Amino acid sequence: MIVVKKVAVLYGGSSSERNVSLMSGKAVSQALKRKGYDVIDIDVDHSFDITSLPSLKIEKAFLALHGGDGEDGTLQAALQLLKIPYTGSDHRASAVGIDKAMTKKVWQASGITTPRFFELNLSSYNPDSLLEHIQDYSFPLVVKPATQGCSIGINKAHNIEELHSFIEEAFIYEDKILIEQYISGREFTVGILDQQVLPTVEITHSHSFFSHEAKFKAADTQYHCPAELSADQEEIIRALALSAFRAINASGWGRVDIIADENGYFYAIEVNTAPGMTTRSVFPLATEQLGIDFDDTVEAILRCA
Ligand SMILES: Nc1ncnc2c1ncn2[C@@H]1O[C@H](COP(=O)(O)OP(=O)(O)O)[C@@H](O)[C@H]1O
Ligand SMILES: [Mg+2]
Repeated sequence: MIVVKKVAVLYGGSSSERNVSLMSGKAVSQALKRKGYDVIDIDVDHSFDITSLPSLKIEKAFLALHGGDGEDGTLQAALQLLKIPYTGSDHRASAVGIDKAMTKKVWQASGITTPRFFELNLSSYNPDSLLEHIQDYSFPLVVKPATQGCSIGINKAHNIEELHSFIEEAFIYEDKILIEQYISGREFTVGILDQQVLPTVEITHSHSFFSHEAKFKAADTQYHCPAELSADQEEIIRALALSAFRAINASGWGRVDIIADENGYFYAIEVNTAPGMTTRSVFPLATEQLGIDFDDTVEAILRCA
């Protein structure tokens, strides 16, 4: 008798990244169905009731959620209590990974290179003290909300006026934001699957940084894998990605965003513990380089759960 494994794909959610998650969820679900799994699709929208999950008798949950409760450890903790295995990092690593400021503090303490930054909290923020904060920094500066994705609320400030206005804009999204030194140079992202570091992907576009517009609308955004790096550079960037991933105790799968400055020196920018998994996402592009197709990639992620 063939035993069909019953799994759930959780997608959607209510974060600002809901739309990407709908696409990831659909692609993952179709892949698992092609692989012969009995798949239950669950949109984690407002009507979602987690207490209904145990009655479905699933073996594992594939989390195709980006941002919010689905990536910040909340859902992971609940699934752990329900004893349902799930893909990706556990609740503690997810909680650190979603928070760019917390991630960078861990990295700094672990000796992992990341752009200098400071944090602002809405409750204690005083615009009059901004000049004091930035006296050791130079423009441009990047302003970003701590836990959003898809470049939402992220801007590059070239002067103090822009900085004030972008800070105000970032505070619309959340109460905690970061001001980070802008690094001018090539942009990369490195995936990790199980214990394996995937080939580096370089991202090129004509925007001055990888804005929401560049990520989702611009026709000239391109992903290059393998990236044009020397064997030494490829080794250095992969080692940085792996230590950045491990420093926050991430596991299963994920992606680390990295920028190289003009001297070719690499800086870790952020870690994604639940990367996009649409058929056109960066992660499956990197596994494809290793001869692992989309469906096998999805199954490999599930196997780590
Ligand atoms: N310190 C920085 N220097 C230069 N560009 C940056 C910096 N931080 C972010 N960016 C640009 O903004 C994009 C989005 O920032 P990131 O921190 O990766 O957030 P998101 O979660 O939205 O992907 C990056 O892909 C990069 O193009
Ligand atoms: Mg990013």
